Amino acid sequence: MSLTVRTVHEPDELREFATVHATAFGYHWEDEKLDRLMVPFLRRVNCVAAFDGGEMIGVSVDQPFQMTVPGGRTVPMRGLTWAGVLPTHRRRGALRAMFDRQHADMREQGVPVSGLFAAATDIYHRFGYGPATLTVAEAEVDSNHGAFAAPFQDPGSIELLRDPSPVAVVREVLERSRLQIPGELDRDDADIAEMFTVAEHDEFRIAHRAPGGGYDGFASYRVKSEWTHEVLPQGQVQVQALLTAAPEAAAAIWRYLLDVELTTTVQVYNRPLDDPIRGLLAEWRYHHVKQIADGLWLSLLDASAALQARRYPADGELVLELDGAALLLEVRDGEGSCAPTGRRPEIALDAPALASTFLGGYRFTALREAMRLRELAPGACVRADSMFRAEREPWCSFEF
Ligand SMILES: CC(C)(COP(=O)(O)OP(=O)(O)OC[C@H]1O[C@@H](n2cnc3c(N)ncnc32)[C@H](O)[C@@H]1OP(=O)(O)O)[C@@H](O)C(=O)NCCC(=O)NCCS
Repeated sequence: MSLTVRTVHEPDELREFATVHATAFGYHWEDEKLDRLMVPFLRRVNCVAAFDGGEMIGVSVDQPFQMTVPGGRTVPMRGLTWAGVLPTHRRRGALRAMFDRQHADMREQGVPVSGLFAAATDIYHRFGYGPATLTVAEAEVDSNHGAFAAPFQDPGSIELLRDPSPVAVVREVLERSRLQIPGELDRDDADIAEMFTVAEHDEFRIAHRAPGGGYDGFASYRVKSEWTHEVLPQGQVQVQALLTAAPEAAAAIWRYLLDVELTTTVQVYNRPLDDPIRGLLAEWRYHHVKQIADGLWLSLLDASAALQARRYPADGELVLELDGAALLLEVRDGEGSCAPTGRRPEIALDAPALASTFLGGYRFTALREAMRLRELAPGACVRADSMFRAEREPWCSFEF
């Protein structure tokens, strides 16, 4: 195979690009959808393709984001997606060649962090990625046991949105919420609009009007009607998106969803570990978590720059041995500085393990117990956990 890698831009090549992706993942595009949905998306992002001679055999996309880090700051992050190689050309280095090219470009542009959502979990550690957020991939609440523990009076109000593409509402809620949640990303209007272009026609959208004005909550859902013995209602509320920027907005939206008439369950997907519904319910155990999964994976392309970009809840010093090189992290007044050191390392770890701890989603002590890192100085992992803790469970509200 004669392997070359380059970016592609032209509409014909982008159609080919989408077809290679579909073939890699085992599906087909209808021409109409390809032109209406995919080509516009591909024109907005950076498309990198691998060729065997003149034939396009692999694809990978990257897209710029600002990712929230602990302390309510952001860091530039490039999201990788759409990685796929034709079944005829697998395991011959095409993915590695595309990723090498993309990572080199990111480093050259000074982007310290790269991220992805992994369809398969045993590939990306070799490229330095580790899971950095956890997600409740699927959960269900039994609406018959949906009473709240404390009386709740909504200080705002819920509105049903008629606009088929309420981009401005989602943007407003996201702008209010994203800096509160490590791992959350900004989204441009085209990304938000795409959420509505691909949505099913039977989706409803609601927003929560904040008591002080504007919107601080948004949800989209479908109602799946079901009857047992033709007469007993067993409908499900299936929630597609749920974003909130204030506890009252979360409580109000959950109350609304649990009270949809003729339904007995609310199903949610991709929720944070600290979803407030668990604590809102009087009977916690009726929040059934069905699957917890890795969410956003990160690779710290420039570990020092990344560690300096976040804030820390506790001051202190920590000497890490990252892939064999000693790095001193010093935190004063919550600000981190990071540089190579001659001091004796206290924790030895590799790039994926450091990426997992970066947002505070995975604890050093837990990774030590799982033998994902080695504690070289007693107490170092407990100290590291107190320094790396985040104000909220890291979460990314959408997959790119
Ligand atoms: C996964 C996929 C993109 C890999 O592409 P590829 O060109 O075959 O990968 P490469 O030959 O460049 O392999 C790169 C490394 O990943 C490893 N690898 C590749 N596919 C793997 C898999 N499915 N499971 C585990 N390891 C895998 C290779 O062994 C190689 O490791 P090494 O460099 O340490 O030896 C390709 O098989 C594919 O399109 N699969 C279907 C779609 C998919 O699963 N996409 C990824 C989901 S995000």
